Amino acid sequence: MLNPPNVMLQYARFYDLYASGFARDLPVYLDVAAKYAPPLLEIGCGTGRLLRGFAREGHEAVGVDVSRDMLAVARERLGEDGDRVRLAHHDFRARPLSERFHAVLVSLHAFNYLIEIEEQRLFLRHLRRSMASPARVLFDLAVPLSMLRPELSGQWRLIEREVAGTRISVRDRREMLTPLLERRTQYFSVDAAPEAEMVTHRRYVTPASLRDLLAEAGFEHIVWFENYDPSTARAIQLGDRPSGPFMVAAEL
Ligand SMILES: C[S@@+](CC[C@H](N)C(=O)[O-])C[C@H]1O[C@@H](n2cnc3c(N)ncnc32)[C@H](O)[C@@H]1O
Repeated sequence: MLNPPNVMLQYARFYDLYASGFARDLPVYLDVAAKYAPPLLEIGCGTGRLLRGFAREGHEAVGVDVSRDMLAVARERLGEDGDRVRLAHHDFRARPLSERFHAVLVSLHAFNYLIEIEEQRLFLRHLRRSMASPARVLFDLAVPLSMLRPELSGQWRLIEREVAGTRISVRDRREMLTPLLERRTQYFSVDAAPEAEMVTHRRYVTPASLRDLLAEAGFEHIVWFENYDPSTARAIQLGDRPSGPFMVAAEL
C-alpha cells in the first residue's frame, strides 16, 4: 500500500471502531463453523471483529492478514477471547499455509484488494492447497458505489459516530478509475485528532468471474447469494449482477 506506515496503525485503530457495529455476516460464518471440523480460517481478519464473535460462540479460529498493523490491534482487542484464536501474518499470494483447513472465510471484501487477475489466481491456488476435503470456503465481496448509488460516486460523504465513548469521523470518497477498479480516499479522525489520509483500491469481482477462477483452481459446487442469506444460494449465471454486497461459496 502507498500509505505511510504510521498512518496504517492509526487507520487500524480507526477501522476497529468504525466496523465494530457490523455483525450481519456473523451468522453465515457460525453456520459453517458448526458443520465443518475446526479450526475456522479467516483470511483478511483485520482487527478481529469476527474472530471475537467466533471465540465467544466457542469456536477455535485462525486469523491471517497481510497487514501487521491490523493484526497488532486484533491482538490487543482479543483479550480473554484470545485463548481460542491464533493470529498470523500471511499472504496467500506468496504461499499456502502448512496447516490444512475445512472451513475458510475470505471475509469482508478481502478478495477485492487483489487488483490483478494473476494475484487472484495465485491466492486461490495457495488457498486450495491450504484446504482439506471436505471443505467449504465463503467469500464476502464488495460492489462499487457507482453501481449501487451512482449519484454518490465521486462525492465526499461525511460519517460521524460515537463508538464506546470514542468519537470517530471520516470523509469518504469512492470513484471508479476503470470500469472495475474503485479508489477509496478516506480522511479519518479518532477523538478529534488531526485527520489522516488513507487511500485504498478494490477491484470489482463479478460472481461469474470468481466462479471461473474457483473452477480453474479445482473448487466445486460454486454458488452465490445476497443479503447474507444462504437459503437463497443459487448457481452462478454469466450475466448475474448483484444488487449489493454478495457472497460466493465453494466446496472441495
Ligand atoms: C475491510 S477489512 C475486513 C477486516 C475484517 N475481516 C472485518 O470483517 O472487519 C479487509 C482486510 O483484508 C486484508 N487483506 C487485504 N488483502 C489481503 C490479502 N491478500 N490477504 C490477507 N488479507 C488481506 C486487509 O489488510 C484488511 O485487514
